[in-house]
Amino acid sequence: MQVLVTGGAGFIGANFTLRTLATRDDVQLTVLDKFTYAANPATLEPVSARITVIRGDIGDAALVDRLVADSDLVVNFAAESHNDNSLADPSAFVQTNLVGTYTLLEAVRRHRVRLHHISTDEVYGDLDLDDPARFTEETAYNPSSPYSSTKAGSDLLVRAWVRSFGVEATISNCSNNYGPYQHLEKFIPRQITNVLTGVRPKLYGDGLNVRDWIHVDDHNDAVWTIIERGQLGETYLIGADGEVNNRTVVESILVALGQPADAFDFVTDRAGHDRRYAIDATRLRDELGWTPTYTDFASGLAATIDWYRDNREWWAPHKAGVEADYARTQQILD
Ligand code: NAD
Ligand code: DAU
Repeated sequence: MQVLVTGGAGFIGANFTLRTLATRDDVQLTVLDKFTYAANPATLEPVSARITVIRGDIGDAALVDRLVADSDLVVNFAAESHNDNSLADPSAFVQTNLVGTYTLLEAVRRHRVRLHHISTDEVYGDLDLDDPARFTEETAYNPSSPYSSTKAGSDLLVRAWVRSFGVEATISNCSNNYGPYQHLEKFIPRQITNVLTGVRPKLYGDGLNVRDWIHVDDHNDAVWTIIERGQLGETYLIGADGEVNNRTVVESILVALGQPADAFDFVTDRAGHDRRYAIDATRLRDELGWTPTYTDFASGLAATIDWYRDNREWWAPHKAGVEADYARTQQILD
């Protein structure tokens, strides 16, 4: 099977690529990635002889048409993915998440190629801390940020292309991922690498916002499960019952790295900051038989801390630049 992995040099797409190479011998992988600031070329370098890597934009219709024509399956991870950036400048989010997905859809429609579209639980908005509800496939879309609204729009485009043109596609909406090779702008790597470089972690607002953490390998195993056993045209939520508040995550990182649990700072809250996400993955578990491997967030987090401690060469050259970008973003938002 010839698989086109868009966004395959980013965090989840690169883990998908590496895991697929390690677990399957029936697929040939082509990665199409724009190599924005979010991609780290070092991630795929060790497997570069086993895959084809194309540097390009999912919004480039001619390139996408050519690559899709040669594929049996497209898995679309490509996106602008960071909420803070989308507040400072939403333009790339509209271009990649909406126009890019549209471009892929027109190509898979023309060439009758199966698509799996990767999306997020943020399309459902947020929940109160004391709300017993969790998101299901029936929850109404209610996105809060420029990022999540463009992801919601991309999902709706996929659904419309399924219904109007018979495109063979599935969608998955996953909760917050953690694991190796995650960009330093994201919460868990940012705080681990802060502590490893002697900087105090930063908690937005009161630190009580809850995220539903899932290990990236569990996400990607679920994606393969949906590709192989999912019903065409359907949406599946992916989550592993990993609800934890941000303060607890930071305290765990500090303690694991030998620091006092309270050695962090509260900083200005993110505008429109979603309070809580929570996934009910019953459909994926019951209908498709998927179960997560990392059922204990604390041990998954410990393994991730170890990975960043042991792989400084992957992230250290980029740490100062990421923090400088944060300072620039903050200036725009102030
Ligand atoms: P990421 O930012 O780490 O990686 C995104 C990748 O897409 C990068 O390699 C980047 O270079 C590439 N890219 C960006 N614009 C492109 C374009 N126009 N053409 C081609 N490539 C382009 O993101 P991630 O965290 O790996 O997220 C991957 C997907 O999963 C996204 O669609 C995101 O919305 C979704 N998602 C992420 C999470 C999470 O917790 N990180 C959770 C649920 C869903
Ligand atoms: O839920 C899935 C989503 O998870 C994905 O769709 C997004 O692509 C991904 O970035 C992530 O979005 P979040 O906004 O939840 O992730 P982020 O890592 O930016 O922040 C996680 C939480 O930590 C959030 O409540 C904000 C908080 N935070 C973040 C940073 C960077 C802090 O308190 N301090 C920080 O320095």
